Amino acid sequence: MSSLGFSEEKLTVLLTESQIQTRIGEIAAELRAAYGEEPVLLVGILKGSLYFLADLSRHLGPEIEIDFLAVSSYGGEMQSSGVVQIRKDLDSSITGKHVLLVEDIVDTGLTLSYLRRMLHTRQPKSLRVVALLTKDKAMDHPAEVEFNGFLIPDEFVVGYGLDVAEKYRNLPFIATLQLGSSS
Ligand code: IMP
Ligand code: MG
Repeated sequence: MSSLGFSEEKLTVLLTESQIQTRIGEIAAELRAAYGEEPVLLVGILKGSLYFLADLSRHLGPEIEIDFLAVSSYGGEMQSSGVVQIRKDLDSSITGKHVLLVEDIVDTGLTLSYLRRMLHTRQPKSLRVVALLTKDKAMDHPAEVEFNGFLIPDEFVVGYGLDVAEKYRNLPFIATLQLGSSS
């Protein structure tokens, strides 16, 4: 057990807290280069992007605004259902704004392509995606993610916002999760 009580035998660290934070600083530099002084609306996709958006946004300047979308595509299971449900829409209009979708992880890419189509109809000035993690199988659709943190193997991961059945989101690192038979 760790001092916080997380069972370590099922978790294998994939990305440490310092690797994540270093990469976020680099992504922020890429974003500043891409947008300059233009105002940008960061749209966090709840709940998985919560820590990523919080940490990333603190590297950006005063020109940003923050809004959230809540979607569900997994229903508590570890396989994508392919069905994306909007549970909470944006608070305000995105028409004419630079919109940057902030996503935790791109797996099949189904969630993103749905959201892109939906948000495109609202006529933003631009619509881009920053994802902390992209599974390498999602690279069949590389155009879906303009800014990516890490390319990771096709394994189920938890921590730093990512959950399995709402658990492990609050780990400060990202780990692969082996489903133990004893739990
Ligand atoms: P996609 O539609 O298959 O790309 O799935 C995207 C969403 O599924 C992500 O935003 C996550 O919420 C969830 N997801 C996909 N892979 C994982 C994983 O390895 N761990 C935890 N959640 C995941
Ligand atoms: Mg998500």
